[in-house]
Amino acid sequence: MNVYDSRKMADVLAPMGYKQIEEPDGADMIILNTCHIREKATDKVFSELGRLKKHKDQGEKEDRKVLMAVAGCVAQAEGDFIAERAPYVDMVFGPQTYGELPEMVAQATGAYGKDRVINTNFDEEDKFDKLPEETTEQGPTAFVAVQEGCDKFCTFCVVPYTRGGEYSRSVKAVYNEILKLADQDVREVSLLGQNVNAYHGLDENGNTASLADLILKVADINGIERIRYTTSHPRDMQQDLIDVHAHHKVMPYLHLPVQSGSNKILKAMNRKHTRDLYFDIIERFRKVRPDIAISGDFIVGFPGETEQDFEDTMDLVRHINYSSAYSFKYSQRPGTPAATMGGLVREEVKDERLQRLQALLADQMRQFNEQTVGLDLPVLFDGNPRPDQLHGRTPYNQAVHVQGNPRLNGHFENVRITGTNGKSLTGELILAEAA
Ligand code: 5AD
Ligand code: SF4
Repeated sequence: MNVYDSRKMADVLAPMGYKQIEEPDGADMIILNTCHIREKATDKVFSELGRLKKHKDQGEKEDRKVLMAVAGCVAQAEGDFIAERAPYVDMVFGPQTYGELPEMVAQATGAYGKDRVINTNFDEEDKFDKLPEETTEQGPTAFVAVQEGCDKFCTFCVVPYTRGGEYSRSVKAVYNEILKLADQDVREVSLLGQNVNAYHGLDENGNTASLADLILKVADINGIERIRYTTSHPRDMQQDLIDVHAHHKVMPYLHLPVQSGSNKILKAMNRKHTRDLYFDIIERFRKVRPDIAISGDFIVGFPGETEQDFEDTMDLVRHINYSSAYSFKYSQRPGTPAATMGGLVREEVKDERLQRLQALLADQMRQFNEQTVGLDLPVLFDGNPRPDQLHGRTPYNQAVHVQGNPRLNGHFENVRITGTNGKSLTGELILAEAA
C-alpha cells in the first residue's frame, strides 16, 4: 500500500513540476513514507531522518531549500512527536491527506505566512477523490488501491487506528484507473486493500459490488491479462471470490493471513475465526484451483502463547503447505488492546519459535518451487537485472530469471522452468526455437 501511495504522491506532485528521482542527492523535496505496523519499522524513522537531514544541510550550504516530509502511518500516529523531535522536518502528514499535497507544499514554502505543516486529518471518503487518475506508472505491473482501512480490530494491530475504518472505492473509479494503466502497457494489476476481500464498492447502478464482481469487471479490460489481490481476511472470504479463480485472468495465488494455528490465540487476537474455518476456506479454493499457491502471515509469541499453542501453528502450516509466507515476532503496539495483556513471551522464546517456523516455511517454499521445475509456464517479464538477463513472475508469483533479450521486458513468454535455489526459479525461453 505504501508503494502505491508513494506513486500517488509523485502523481499529485507532477503537475507542480516535481519529478521522482532515485537518490535523495540534489532533491528539492524528500518524503519519507513510513510504516507503523511493527516497532522495528517505527524505530527506523528517526535513524532514516537523521541520515536524510544531511541532504537538507547540504542544500542550505548551496542556498537551496530542501523540503523534508514524513508521510504514512507513523506520521498519522505520532505526528506531534516527530514535529517536536525533528524540528528540521517541514511537513508531517498522514495517509488520508496525499491529495492535499499541493496546498501543503505551498504552505511549507511560506506561501501562507507560516511554513510548517502537520496534517493528520482523517477523511477516508475524500482521499481517493483528490488523487489524480493520471499516473507516472512505468512497467507491466501495477498496484491499484480498491479498499483502504479496516474494521476488524485484531488486538495486536494498529491499522484500524492509522488507516481508519473500511472504505471501498467505486467500481467505476477503479475501472477508470485500470483503463489508463492498460493504455500505458500495464498487463498485470494487483488490487490492494488492508482487508481487500471486504470490498463493497458501489457499481454504476448503485448496487454494492463484491471483490469478485470488481475482478470480473477488471477482467473485461483489454490488455489486462493478470489480476491479483491482497490482503484478505478469512472472515470475509465469500464463495464468489473463490469461484472467480476459475477465470483465466485471475492468478492461482492466494495471500490469506492466519496469524496463528491455535484457537485460543486466535480468540485472544480477536481474529473472529477458528483454525477449522481456515482449513475449510483453503479446501474450497483447492476445489476450484487445485494448483493454487497459498501464502500467509504469522505472528509468533503473542501474549499467552504456550509451546502447545505454537505447536498448533506448526501443525496448521504442515497441513496447508505454503508456497511462501511472512512471519513476525509479536511486537507490542501502543494503544492496541494486546499491549496491556499479560503473559508476555520472552524475547529468546520468540526468537526460537520464529526460527523453527521460518525453517518449516522455507522448506515448504523450496518444495513448492521444486514442483514447478520441468513445467512450461507463462512468465510476465518486469525487469532486466543484467543486460542479457530477464526477471519475471510465474502465475504462482514465483520470481524467475532467464537469459534473454531485454526487448522482451513487459511481455509474456512461455518459459521452461529448469531449476530453483529454493527461493526463486531459473528457466529458458521456449520461443527461441520459433523466433
Ligand atoms: N506484531 C507483529 N506482527 C504484526 N502484524 C501486524 N501487527 C503486528 C504486530 N503488532 C503482521 C500481521 C499482519 C502483517 C501485515 O503484519 O501478520 O498480517
Ligand atoms: Fe490489522 Fe488485518 Fe486485523 Fe485489520 S484484519 S486489524 S489490518 S491484522
